[in-house]
Amino acid sequence: MKAPNVKLIITEVSGIQNTRLFTYNELRDATGNFRTSNKIGEGGFGVVYQGTLRDGTMVAVKVLSADSTQGVREFLTEIEVMADIEHENLVKLYGCCVEKKHRILVYGYVENNSIAQTLLGGGNNSIQFSWDTRSQICIGVAKGLAFLHEEVRPHIVHRDIKPSNILLDKNLMPKISDFGLAKLFPDNLTHISTCAAGTVGYLAPEYAIRAKLTRKADIYSFGVLLLEIVSGRSHKDRRLPVAEQYLLERAWDLYEKGEPVQLVDSSLNGDYNIEEALRCLKIGLICTQDMPKLRPPMSTVLKMLVGDIEVNDQEITRPGFLSELMCLKADKGVKKNVKNWSCTASASTSKLGSSSSFPENTDTSYNTMTFTSIYNR
Ligand SMILES: Nc1ncnc2c1ncn2[C@@H]1O[C@H](COP(=O)(O)OP(=O)(O)O)[C@@H](O)[C@H]1O
Ligand SMILES: [Mg+2]
Repeated sequence: MKAPNVKLIITEVSGIQNTRLFTYNELRDATGNFRTSNKIGEGGFGVVYQGTLRDGTMVAVKVLSADSTQGVREFLTEIEVMADIEHENLVKLYGCCVEKKHRILVYGYVENNSIAQTLLGGGNNSIQFSWDTRSQICIGVAKGLAFLHEEVRPHIVHRDIKPSNILLDKNLMPKISDFGLAKLFPDNLTHISTCAAGTVGYLAPEYAIRAKLTRKADIYSFGVLLLEIVSGRSHKDRRLPVAEQYLLERAWDLYEKGEPVQLVDSSLNGDYNIEEALRCLKIGLICTQDMPKLRPPMSTVLKMLVGDIEVNDQEITRPGFLSELMCLKADKGVKKNVKNWSCTASASTSKLGSSSSFPENTDTSYNTMTFTSIYNR
């Protein structure tokens, strides 16, 4: 597919109010000519640099890979979705640059990188994630999502809630970022049928399999994230014994045995509020239940997190495990179908390869991607 030309993109972008258009020179100056030492991140769609505008404002400058057609779509989505919204738990989009082949997004700089890099980054960071900090992060992300799902009109489904898209500011307050996959969700629709997209490990089963998108898909991803924040480990860790590799399965297993607190990060050395930690773990399980209608809306999840609504054990049913459908314990039919899923990496510089089957067994499962579910072909 050919990339939309510059004129078309500028017309689309100018139609979006509150978007500042930056010149390429302005951003080149701000980032010291996109100096490697100013690089702060790299995602599926390009490289992110730290920069300082002429007026002293610190920014994060996301440069899309020049020839990614997929990226241009995400670029426009991100501007459309972000231009008009502001919330303390969402990154702020300042504007963009569209010049020749350049497609660049400019955000407010968030000081402490993502929780993928810090909390789950494997010990090479200096931040201490105390229990209170973790609890504030969970509550902040829940507030940001409740805002997107229930306050903004039309509602917004993020579709890629995961640790690398949760940034932390100087006070370790979380900000949801990366709206490239987001979908606007008009009130009159019960769901959107769409090409499924997201990151393996955070995908709600009904969404991954039938590409039927509702806000409940984000709530499922949020549940997995919650378990990661409390346990300080990633949703999948191949270095652990087989029975413990998948966090969600492990959480359910321990919950059924009546030992869920075993999941709490041992690096806290027992210095945490047991009642709150238990509540968080249960909410993680409530959010990841197999039946989407059993997952409460984000405003309810938020009330549960702050203790305004009691978490009832009777409400907790078995989580939906996509891993089962993917190859581990699936029955043959489903297994065959899943093998037939085609994945297309969203990035031009992708490590995924364009013809991979669902990449369950590779490190690519951490990458955002789009794919066609078997039921939609
Ligand atoms: N506003 C920001 N402030 C600081 N770091 C950021 C900001 N935006 C992105 N980053 C860093 O860049 C990484 C990739 O950015 P992201 O927007 O998620 O891009 P992608 O769509 O490629 O995944 C993030 O995980 C984070 O480490
Ligand atoms: Mg990202």
